[in-house]
Formats: sequence, C-alpha cells, structure tokens
Amino acid sequence: MDKDKVQIFDTTLRDGEQVPGCKLDTKQKLIIAERLDELGVDVIEAGFPISSPGDFKSVQEIAKLVKNATVCGLTRAVKKDIEVAAEAIKFAKIPRIHTGIGTSDSHIKHKFNTTREKIIERAVDAVSYAKSFVEDVEFYAEDAGRTDNEFLAQICEAVIKAGATVLNIPDTTGYCLPEEYGAKMKYLKENVKGINKAILSCHCHNDLGLATANSIAGVVHGARQIECTINGIGERAGNTSLEEVVMILKQHPYLNLDTNINSTLLFDTSRMVSQKMGMPVQPNKAIVGSNAFAHSSGIHQDGVIKQRETYEIIDPADVGVTESSIVLTARSGRAALAYRAKRIGYELTKLQLDAVYENFLEFADRKKEILDDDIHQIMETSDVSIKS
Ligand code: KIV
Ligand code: ZN
Repeated sequence: MDKDKVQIFDTTLRDGEQVPGCKLDTKQKLIIAERLDELGVDVIEAGFPISSPGDFKSVQEIAKLVKNATVCGLTRAVKKDIEVAAEAIKFAKIPRIHTGIGTSDSHIKHKFNTTREKIIERAVDAVSYAKSFVEDVEFYAEDAGRTDNEFLAQICEAVIKAGATVLNIPDTTGYCLPEEYGAKMKYLKENVKGINKAILSCHCHNDLGLATANSIAGVVHGARQIECTINGIGERAGNTSLEEVVMILKQHPYLNLDTNINSTLLFDTSRMVSQKMGMPVQPNKAIVGSNAFAHSSGIHQDGVIKQRETYEIIDPADVGVTESSIVLTARSGRAALAYRAKRIGYELTKLQLDAVYENFLEFADRKKEILDDDIHQIMETSDVSIKS
C-alpha cells in the first residue's frame, strides 16, 4: 500500500531565526534555503516580510532562488502585512501566504481585547484578502494548543469557506500532551465541515520537551503537514526538530507515513545551520548530536562490534554519518580496545590484549577519552612486543 505523504514545512528561517543571537544575513539565508530545497522540504517559510526591510529582501531573494519548494511568507491578520508578504513572494514558483490570529481566550482577551466573533471575522477577512494575491493560503490559529476545540473547529470551518488551503494548529506555548494534541487533530478531522478541502498542520513548540511527540501524535490523528526547524531551533525551548520527525516516520513504517526528505543530507544540513547561526548542537541531540552514534560503555561496544543493530536503531549512513564511533574510556572493554587498535594497525593476540588492557585502564582512569595517539603510546609502554 502506498504511504501517505506528510509535507515538511521548514521554518528555520522564520521561527528558527527568532532565537536571540541567531540573526542571519540575506546571503546566509540564501545558502540555507538552497540546502533546504535540496534536502526535499515541501515548504520553506522564508521570513516575516513586514518585520523589517532586511527580512523583506531575504524573502524576495529566496523566492527567486528556490527551485522546488513552496516559498511562504508570514503575516498577521493585517491588510498591510498581507500586501507586503504578497509582494515579497511574488517571484516564487509556488507562493504561499501564512496568515492568522490568536484564538485562545487568553489571546482574545489580553492581546486583542475583543470577542470570539470578531476574531472569526478578522480571520476570514485576512484569508479572503490573502486569497486575492495567491491561491495557496495557510491559516494559523495562534495558541490553538490552549484554544477550546469547539471554537477552534468553528474558526477552521470559517476560514476553509474563505479559501484556506492549510490549517495550522500551533501549540504556541508548548503546553499540550501528545494525547491531547492528537485528540485535537482528531476532533477537527471529525467536526469541521469541508475539512477535506484543507491540510491540517502541526506546529509545536518544545517548552515541555514534547514538540516532536506532539507532532507525531498530530499526524497519527490526521494532520498531513509538520512545521519544524533544523536542530529544533526556535523561540524559547525551540520548535519540533525536522530530523527527528523525519527519522521517526522512516523508522516506523507501520505508521504508513512518509516524507520527501533525502535523509542522507540531515547531518550535513544540521552542521551547516549550526555553524551559520552560531548555535552549537548539543552532543546528545537525537539523530544529529555528536554522540548520537557513539558508544562508550563496554557492554554496548561489544554488542555493536558484533552486530550494529544490537544498540543502534538507525543506520548512521541513512542520516549522512559515515559510521558509528567506538569511544574509548575507562568504561570500555577489551573488544573495543582490540577494535580501535586494529583500525590503526595493531592485530593483538588474546594474551597481548590482556596485557595491553591493564595498561589501557590505567591510562583511561587518568584521561576522559583515549585517542589514537594515546593507543600508540599505550602499545609502546606495554610489556609486550607489538609492531604496528
Ligand atoms: O508558534 C506559533 O504560533 C507561530 C505562528 C506565528 C505560526 O509561530
Ligand atoms: Zn511558532
């Protein structure tokens, strides 16, 4: 059976770039946009054109450059925002306007000091106006995570009638639990008239570390677009991490969901974005962290050396990592030492290994990690005759 496609909407250059200190110039954004297109993302959210002349220019240049992906510009539900976004994306092969408004009671009361009825009116007006510029209009219900489902369904129905092609259901504050977010999508699928005319989209923030889990719950319950960023960067604790959702769908074929991403470019893209934004990737980050395929305890190392799958659920080559690494520390066993020594030319007999291992442990207790140069030194100072 053919798998259902989940569209990957990358917002590294918009929500991702909102991280303090991660500002990019147009040239850097163009390099990243070109790579995202190559990676196979379906939509690139290039920026928020009304926010500054620099952002407008970046969105415009990205729109001209991108060959395959839809190029999208963000707006508030404000006429001027929509006009400026339409101008910025007009050269895109496939342009999209992403407009919306806060829908939770907290946003309606404190941000807009208005009523639910007026919010629906503004949402419909914004979508209709955006629709006069482009065919593809995505509507976001900001803080949908804390919006009551009945009202959310009402506003979704109204904007679909006005022509929205995508309905973004953001968990703006990263509040929802996966079950709750999944149930929200299910509720909308079952209660919004005309829902089949639009795609439901997950946009999750990571305040409770649940952005990836919530996005997966969303697609399991009927959403077909995930909004995410490279390395999960974004406001506060960040957004859903692109590499995580892509690999989850790939590693769980029974979900019958697939993306267009060329996963072998994930590691390289992660490093490119990290370097351009000056934002290091935490070593234990899933999929792209430097320790994601590193094994350091003796039991795990022995298993991986015998058969990679004993402790690895992903083939590192699938995400563009050349090979798993066997890190030598005082927790490593003989198998790991023999493996690493062999790679630099030492073929040890069992007796030799026993002798060298004692020496190795003494070294390793003094050093955090034993590198190849240390192995040479250990061999030289061991009481056995070994030639490399
Ligand atoms: O988190 C959010 O609600 C957003 C919207 C502007 C789409 O980023
Ligand atoms: Zn967001």
